[in-house]
Parts: sequence; structure tokens; C-alpha cells
Amino acid sequence: MRDKILALMIQNQIGYLSGEQIAAECGISRAAVWKHIDQLKKRGCVIEAKPNCGYRLISLPDSLDPTIVKTFDFSGLLKSGVTLKHFDSVDSTNEVAKRLAAKGEANKTVVVSEEQTAGKGRLNRDWVSKKGANLMFSILLRPDFRPQDASKVPIIAAVAVAQSLRNFAKLDAKVKWPNDVLVDGKKLCGIRCEMASDFDRIEYLIVGIGVNVNQVVFPRDIAEKATSVRGETNRTISRPQLLLSILTDFFDVYTKTFEEGKFDDVIVDYTKMSILFQEMVTVHAGDRETHGKCIGFDRDGCLVMQNEQNRRIRVIAGDVSVRSEKTYV
Ligand code: BTN
Repeated sequence: MRDKILALMIQNQIGYLSGEQIAAECGISRAAVWKHIDQLKKRGCVIEAKPNCGYRLISLPDSLDPTIVKTFDFSGLLKSGVTLKHFDSVDSTNEVAKRLAAKGEANKTVVVSEEQTAGKGRLNRDWVSKKGANLMFSILLRPDFRPQDASKVPIIAAVAVAQSLRNFAKLDAKVKWPNDVLVDGKKLCGIRCEMASDFDRIEYLIVGIGVNVNQVVFPRDIAEKATSVRGETNRTISRPQLLLSILTDFFDVYTKTFEEGKFDDVIVDYTKMSILFQEMVTVHAGDRETHGKCIGFDRDGCLVMQNEQNRRIRVIAGDVSVRSEKTYV
């Protein structure tokens, strides 16, 4: 009902809607209308109440609450089976998604939170993000492809986020293998994928995405390496709108890969946006370091490099980190 009242107010933003009109449209009492309006205000909607005129929506909050997110054109995603679960604060959206998965939560459930108290990045590093300023979300997938194909998913996620930032925020977003998204050599988004599977079947896959959106001050240890959409554009960005854009792009690229068999095209897009392609790189795996030139990415999402002895080496994402002179990360 709250969603319906908000939708009515969005359609009538120029004039006022009387309590009576809303009550009649929604089939509820005027007292119930008042309660819902009060709840919308508590969620950050600015609503003017004028005696003898009614209510008028002044502004929507930059909240990821589904009531607010649904006011953007979310219908395509919702129709395709995506469900949003919103939290104010969690340990990690990946952990929440895993707990939900264990209880049987459906494919395409997206867990979004305003804050994480124990956010995790790749290689088990911490992921720290300012409350209410950024995007932190995890997509729960229950795919029917083979576990061997799961290595494509981090690539898919990186392409989707980078494309979204290019189209939505007009940023020159690049990807750094396997799945960092950078602008000007600084990191703007990190992705952590996790999976529960046996040899021939995936139980679930979690794609955890953290995007720096409106945070401009970063902790000292990452200040040189991190950036945000606002930092790069000087504009405050609507988080629900960016979330919608990334999710739409993610499911498009995912479908292109697994339903249309066009992962080769995804790799072409990925390579065009790659900051490592044709660059000298150093791959760190535990204590071992391998130097060489990145000469591409293969059909399993592996980085292919040519080492100093001219041998081709395939690097699997797993526990490795890659450095190049072109990035701060
Ligand atoms: C990295 O760059 O190392 C990956 C960072 C991934 C962070 C996101 S934020 C949402 C989700 N929940 C987590 O705990 N991690 C991912």
C-alpha cells in the first residue's frame, strides 16, 4: 500500500493530493493514509502537508529501500524474477546471501545494505565502505551450468559494472583482471564471487559488488588508490538508479553468456576495457612472482601472459593478485 501511495504522489508531484483522494484510490481510511505518509517521511521522503490542499511529494531520499527503488523503472527486472532484500546494516551482504541460500532463497535474490560491519574483498581483505554513501550488494544465483563455467561470472560482473558506469555516469571505466573496475587507475568497484558446489553441480553462486558512489574521503591507507563516481564526476549520484543500471546490465551480460552462448563477445568487450591488455604485468601467487606481458583473456576468463622466456602462461583468478605500472591498485 505504501508503494501505491508513493506511486500516486510521484504521478502528482506538481499539485497536491488530498487525503480523501488517496484514501479513495487505495480503498483505505484517511487515518490509514496518514499512517502510511508518516512512514514514508520516516524513510526519508520529504512530503509537504498543506491544510485544505493535501499532500505533495517534494523529494525522494537516496535510499536503497525497495519502496524507493521501485519508484525507478525497476519493472523489467522484477518481471524477470529479481527480488530485492534491503537491510540497514549487516555483517556482509555476501554472508547474508549465503545464509538465505542455505534456507532455500530463490535464484536472482539481491541483498542490498546501507552498511556492512564485516565486508570482505578478494583474497579475504577487508572491504570498508561509508554507510549510506555507496552501493554494497550481493546477487544470489542458482545456475544450471557446470561448476567449470563459474569462472566466467567475475568477468561478466566486471563488464556489466564498467559498461554501466560508462553509460550511466559517462566515465571512462576500465577493468583490471579479474574483476576490479577502475577510473584513472584508481579503484571504484570491487567484486567478490563465492560459490557452493560439488563436482558436477552448483548449489549457489554469490556475486558481491561494492561500488564507491558518493564517498569522497577515504581512509588514509587507500586514499591514493580509491575513487568514486562522485569523485570523478563532481556530481551526487542517485544510488537506486545506479543499482538499477548495474543489475540490468549484469543480467543482460549473464543471459548473453549462458543462454545465447556469446561469451566470446563478452571477452571482446572485456579486452577493450582492460587496463592490463598488452601491458607488462607481475602476477603474485603466495611467495611466487611471475613477470610477463598480458596477451589476452581466454574462454574460461583466465589471464593469458607471455613470460620472459616467451612461454604462454594461463593464470586462473583464485588467490593471485596482479600489478602493472598503469594502476595505483
Ligand atoms: C575486492 O575488491 O576485493 C572485492 C570487494 C567486494 C566488496 C563487496 S561489497 C558487497 C559484497 N559484500 C562483501 O562483503 N563483499 C562484497
